[in-house]
Amino acid sequence: MVVKDEIKIGMLGLGTVGSGTAEILRRNRDSIREKTGSNITIKRVLVRDLNRPRQVDITGMELTDDPATIFSDPEIDLVVEVMGGIDTARRYVKEALRRGKFVVTANKDLLARHGMELHRVAKENDRSIYYEASVGGGIPLVRPLKHCLAANKIQRVMGIINGTTNYILTQMTMHHKEFETALKEAQEKGFAEQDPSSDLAGRDAANKLAILAANAFRSQVTEADVYQEGIQDVRLRDILYAAELGYVVKLLALGEEKEEGLSLRVLPALIPKTHPLAGVYDEFNAVSILGDSVGEVMFYGRGAGSLPTGSAVVADIIDVVRSINHQVVNGIMEIDFKRKDIIPMARQHSRFYLRFKAKDEPGVFAGLATAFGQERVSLDMIIQKHREGDTAEIVLVTHDVQEEKFEKAMAKIKCLPAVRSIDAILRVI
Ligand SMILES: NC(=O)c1ccc[n+]([C@@H]2O[C@H](COP(=O)([O-])OP(=O)(O)OC[C@H]3O[C@@H](n4cnc5c(N)ncnc54)[C@H](OP(=O)(O)O)[C@@H]3O)[C@@H](O)[C@H]2O)c1
Repeated sequence: MVVKDEIKIGMLGLGTVGSGTAEILRRNRDSIREKTGSNITIKRVLVRDLNRPRQVDITGMELTDDPATIFSDPEIDLVVEVMGGIDTARRYVKEALRRGKFVVTANKDLLARHGMELHRVAKENDRSIYYEASVGGGIPLVRPLKHCLAANKIQRVMGIINGTTNYILTQMTMHHKEFETALKEAQEKGFAEQDPSSDLAGRDAANKLAILAANAFRSQVTEADVYQEGIQDVRLRDILYAAELGYVVKLLALGEEKEEGLSLRVLPALIPKTHPLAGVYDEFNAVSILGDSVGEVMFYGRGAGSLPTGSAVVADIIDVVRSINHQVVNGIMEIDFKRKDIIPMARQHSRFYLRFKAKDEPGVFAGLATAFGQERVSLDMIIQKHREGDTAEIVLVTHDVQEEKFEKAMAKIKCLPAVRSIDAILRVI
């Protein structure tokens, strides 16, 4: 065993996550040295703007706008990609691997699209990619799935893995704010980006679910395999009605392995107030994993932010340094994952919450019952909530039904003369 006294990092990006990573490596230098036997330093950092003031002490680091100076430097053992984006990051990660560098990345967008290709390049070059920070920020998820829960056949992963939408839904639920007000506040407090579309539409959560599901079910999963619905259409009204019925609304990421294949969904859903995920508020994230032997385990914490995400990046760096010093390779080979079938959304099952307006006249419920009955959709509850003039607002919850059958019933209901508008459709989990 030859322990390298000095390990040098080349970092791509020095924004939120890069700064947190640099700060942790600086402040915990001694304890990290004790854990690895090596002195770990960031030698060079790629940025876009060399003159931008930095939020972290950059003494001893060389800032550059030329990536080649990182890839061609034989002193640099590992490259930490925390710049984000897809195409350029993909090129740089491949180049780093081809030059024999290990790679640590926090980039879920990149991995959820091109993970398999990058793992293949890593294997060809006898290197590995570490990506704990890409899902759940500071919450350990990837490594527990790969190692601590390896004895299990994982049956389900279910969680809240987008802090922005959880913050907005919490504000709506706890303080009865309308969606637009909650979004504006989230942006002011830094919990939502100026362009929040990826978070709101469920794309960010879908990327993370793809990475989680790949590891949970040992399958080649990309974000295109994940059914996605966002929270843009969730109204305060529905959150209040859900509360009356004993539920809270959350943006859920749900992956399950069934006999027919993998079920992968990101969608806003009503979950019972007593469910452990119902108590996950604000920007916090939580993931529950169900294994056949261990049962259910829950992970909870900060899913984003400079130091929490930096914590996961530095843990990966420490793992890389240990594997360099002990000359062991990461035994998890993502390229060995098979590609399992994905169950199409039409064949998935759910319970549904439906809110609609109809003319307040006799026979409306009979029309509904017929439309649902023809598709074998049975109703759990139906409540007339509100009346304005001759229009009644009706909320109903179905029993478990196949998506396709519910869609067919809805097509019939939309055509009923008394039905004026369909205002909300949400799943009930
Ligand atoms: N923010 C979080 O809490 C969080 C949590 C988990 C995962 N992540 C992931 O971590 C990654 C980084 O996120 P972040 O929030 O730290 O981003 P960020 O604050 O926008 O920082 C990006 C950094 O990369 C540099 N950069 C971007 N494109 C570049 C290019 N083409 N060439 C050279 N430098 C470039 C920027 O340089 P300048 O500073 O000069 O502009 C900046 O320093 C993303 O993949 C993100 O999805 C973030």
